[in-house]
Amino acid sequence: MAFTRHLLLLLAAAATITATAATDDTAPSPPPSPTPWPDLFHAVLFTNLTNYSMASTGPPLRLTDLYYDWPRRRNLNLVRHQLSPDPLYDVEWNNGTTFYFDSSSCRVERFDVGVLPPTWLSGGAAAEYMGRCVTGGIDCHVWGKAGFIVYYEEVATGRPVRWDFIDVTGIQQFVMSYEVGVVLEDSQWQAPAHCFPDEENEQDTKEEEVADGLEAARLLKKLADAAIAF
Ligand SMILES: *[C@@H]1O[C@H](CO)[C@@H](O)[C@H](O)[C@H]1NC(C)=O
Ligand SMILES: *[C@@H]1O[C@H](CO)[C@@H](O)[C@H](O)[C@H]1NC(C)=O
Ligand SMILES: *[C@@H]1O[C@H](CO)[C@@H](O)[C@H](O)[C@H]1NC(C)=O
Repeated sequence: MAFTRHLLLLLAAAATITATAATDDTAPSPPPSPTPWPDLFHAVLFTNLTNYSMASTGPPLRLTDLYYDWPRRRNLNLVRHQLSPDPLYDVEWNNGTTFYFDSSSCRVERFDVGVLPPTWLSGGAAAEYMGRCVTGGIDCHVWGKAGFIVYYEEVATGRPVRWDFIDVTGIQQFVMSYEVGVVLEDSQWQAPAHCFPDEENEQDTKEEEVADGLEAARLLKKLADAAIAF
């Protein structure tokens, strides 16, 4: 089982891969390793909360623009619920501060972890290789990590194709476009004035509202936490 192929085996396999190919035809080939994320990319993700119920917060279908910016240690998710005119921003900084806001409300949270590093999947305790699978008509390698994400990468190119979180919401995210090197202009990262209210006028009433729809971002934070812990 792929489950039993642990880190030592992966390390040993990586060290001997070229020699093995030349000298021992009978040895099983080592499982492939996930491609690190590029330092900069923009991806459009189609998101489905597959375990949606009327009790869930927020509608189940979203489009998310993900801007990953490792050189500046920041990550932005621009989340659009189906037919909603007001997108949600989730701006994450490496110091753990995260701003969630839309045009009228804002919530600021502090996390113990920063932005996911490009090697979050292959680094630390390596992801468990789960084999090959065709999803969305694309031939993929599949890995699981830390018991809460299943990650699909295109065999031919190493591009991310899809990831599913093992979570009660059953979140699945499908990469619809993927542009390496694309950055979002600085002004778009700036949290708006209503994230910095005067102490006296502070209103917490809208905080719950803006939290809707950010399950995937929260799970990625949890993943960053696990990437450090494991
Ligand atoms: C979302 O997931 C649900 C549950 O698996 C499925 O029935 C539905 O067709 C999916 N919707 C889309 C648009 O993919
Ligand atoms: C973290 O960095 C962001 C962006 O520079 C800043 O707005 C925020 O205040 C910082 N948080 C802390 C706790 O320093
Ligand atoms: C689906 O969500 C319900 C709560 O809405 C939860 O009780 C159930 O365990 C979830 N199903 C899965 C497979 O996680």
